[in-house]
Amino acid sequence: MEKNQDIGCYSPGLAGIPVTKSAISSVDGTIGHLEYRGINIEELAEQSSFEETSFLLLYGHLPSQQELMEVHEKLRHHRRVKFRIRDMMKCFPESAHPMDSLQTTVAAMGMFYPLSHGDLTVEQIRSVCLNLISKLPTLVAAHARMRKGDDPIPPRDDLSHAANFLYMLTGNEPTLLMERIMDVALIVHAEHTLNASTFSTIVTASTLADPYTCISAAIGSLSGPLHGGANEDVLHMLDEIGTVDRVESYLHEKLAKKEKISGLGHRIYKTKDPRAVLLQELYVQLTQEMGEDPTYEIASRIEELSRSTLGAKGICPNVDFYSGIVYRKLGIPTDLFTPIFAVARVSGWLAHWKEQLGVSRIYRPTQIYTGEKGQAYIPMKER
Ligand SMILES: CC(C)(COP(=O)(O)OP(=O)(O)OC[C@H]1O[C@@H](n2cnc3c(N)ncnc32)[C@H](O)[C@@H]1OP(=O)(O)O)[C@@H](O)C(=O)NCCC(=O)NCCS
Repeated sequence: MEKNQDIGCYSPGLAGIPVTKSAISSVDGTIGHLEYRGINIEELAEQSSFEETSFLLLYGHLPSQQELMEVHEKLRHHRRVKFRIRDMMKCFPESAHPMDSLQTTVAAMGMFYPLSHGDLTVEQIRSVCLNLISKLPTLVAAHARMRKGDDPIPPRDDLSHAANFLYMLTGNEPTLLMERIMDVALIVHAEHTLNASTFSTIVTASTLADPYTCISAAIGSLSGPLHGGANEDVLHMLDEIGTVDRVESYLHEKLAKKEKISGLGHRIYKTKDPRAVLLQELYVQLTQEMGEDPTYEIASRIEELSRSTLGAKGICPNVDFYSGIVYRKLGIPTDLFTPIFAVARVSGWLAHWKEQLGVSRIYRPTQIYTGEKGQAYIPMKER
């Protein structure tokens, strides 16, 4: 971080600069520990559900039996998407990336569910959060079907959030293990302090923009390959490598050219990301039901070989390293991996949006101007 009288504290990428106070989640990157509202992510992955975890993130405490029942009921109730929204999505180009479709559709939702500009009531806040959490899976699954010319599969009220999502994506009711694995994947992706997309949410929220606009901005941030898009890149990399015996030369070439290996490294974690540990365990469970997968061997070999070189610099597998392998095993196309991230992270984004409602200070950082000053305007004929 540069520090002098003219520029104050300048830290590219705002690394290490606190920009808000938040009670939603905390990370210890040196030991690889992540907590939502003070509860270890491993305990949530083992004992909670995505529905319950979303309540925890939004309201700061675990729900009572009654509260959890209400959340389940409301999330089921909001699953259906208006036909006008579906019709709008049908007009998107078939080649559209599902993240672009999702971002556009969520932005458009603000027109269908307008909110007044004054203070929102507790009920309005709850309703908008549940509406978005509930509808994102329907939107992702509907686009996945419509781009192939098929009608969307309507959501089912008798399935959990995770099972219904898999059902709408694949047309098949998932096994209990598949449902559990999707549920845990959603839990571990639901929140992660002030990453780029969450920062986009709170910057947009600070202008008092409506929540659909805030979540649309977050989805746009998540789409980039340095953030959510990395899990797609991991699978492309594993496919490009093709066989385990090619891993060593691939790594060698990449590192010699100073190129990054997808799915390794994290701004905060200097050890293996705890979410990568959980996702790797899930994958192993899946193989017991569905058989081995050669891509996993390639990924394990990358992890093993990079341990002594990159690992020594604190560059270790992040959440994206194993998530794609799990999703592929569940039969999900590669370009839906980042939208699934959004389906999970929307709970965290909304928790931050809700938290920021009490802050009312617009973000307005400063810059270090490096351009010319006092230049004369040159008329066109003299240029
Ligand atoms: C996530 C990421 C952007 C973090 O970036 P960062 O904290 O700003 O780290 P930097 O880019 O400053 O990297 C620090 C050093 O580690 C190296 N490094 C970081 N990630 C690397 C990777 N995946 N492969 C090889 N080298 C890597 C950098 O080249 C740099 O080396 P140098 O000190 O010799 O210049 C970065 O690790 C990355 O691009 N990873 C791959 C993409 C990815 O998986 N993203 C998902 C994150 S959840």
